[in-house]
Amino acid sequence: MPIIDLRSDTVTRPSPGMREAMAGAEVGDDVYGEDPTVTRLEREVAALLGKEAALFVPSGSMGNQIALLVHTRPGDEVIVGEGAHLAWYESGAGAAIAGVQFATIGRGGTFSADEVRAAAKPLRDYHPRTSLVAVENTHNRGGGKVFPASEVTAVASVARELGLGLHLDGARLWNAALASGCAVNELCAPFDTVSVCFSKGLGAPVGSALSGSREAIGRARRFRKMLGGGMRQAGILAAGALYALEHQRERLKDDHANAQLLAAGLAQAGFLLDPATIETNVVIARLDSGRAEQLAALAADSSVLVGALDARTLRFVTHLDVDRNGVLEAIRVLTEAWKQCGSPGGGV
Ligand SMILES: Cc1ncc(COP(=O)(O)O)c(C=O)c1O
Repeated sequence: MPIIDLRSDTVTRPSPGMREAMAGAEVGDDVYGEDPTVTRLEREVAALLGKEAALFVPSGSMGNQIALLVHTRPGDEVIVGEGAHLAWYESGAGAAIAGVQFATIGRGGTFSADEVRAAAKPLRDYHPRTSLVAVENTHNRGGGKVFPASEVTAVASVARELGLGLHLDGARLWNAALASGCAVNELCAPFDTVSVCFSKGLGAPVGSALSGSREAIGRARRFRKMLGGGMRQAGILAAGALYALEHQRERLKDDHANAQLLAAGLAQAGFLLDPATIETNVVIARLDSGRAEQLAALAADSSVLVGALDARTLRFVTHLDVDRNGVLEAIRVLTEAWKQCGSPGGGV
């Protein structure tokens, strides 16, 4: 039975068209600035995001870490939302590499301008210097939540008033744009730097980009080399990203529809979630008892892979390698597994 892998949208395989584009890519040594496909990708991404320049990097984490290096000095503090990828999933790199600490504000990944104002520390000898606000849109741990555009505008205005930099972790910005009906460049406009990923729902095997002013990206290029991210014939990878942007961006709305379908099915089966809160391609469901690992193992026995975030919380992410029928099959398997685990409506 084919595996239905809902652990993440990073598990996608390159489509035949993408593989063909990658195989035929024109390449050169990008550390010498001589890879035409990387250069084309960087120009197209900068134009799409409405920024002066962009830099191709191996991963979203590296894009975020370079942004920290561009905006901060060791000992600084960075304001982030609850559960931010920067603070949770980058192996402590913010502290280890840029030498910054994080101040976490808000609930579920989003936060208000007032919370930024309250968290920004006044400049004193004994305080860390608050230098950056980082927004994540959509928010991964927050369940694919879109950061409301009006709130971003208010946050940006306070950040400007306080002299703070603004970075957007837009690993899934493409999903945020489709869900909110806003253009990608509108969502990026308030920010100094934006990182985006091609390797999530867009389906490319590798690659992210950091974009911003020519000056910021010039500095970022140096930091990329420092972190070991200077790549040589990277046009092979950039071709996958270009293909993804052109052919696999609009279809993200199918992932959103599949996430709605999945959420409705899970709610029906007794998982704790409100389908109305699902905005993009991530579904987070709670259990009324601590059996998430057990349920994930049972589902895996029937070829459905899901992620257990903690003892009572499961995460499902829809993507281009799971179609509507796959989602219906996942609902069937998960409903059965939940009964076997002793759901309130189940037999055990
Ligand atoms: C919001 C967010 N930012 C950054 C990243 C990091 O991307 P990568 O896995 O390419 O380092 C991820 C990965 O899932 C993410 O969800």
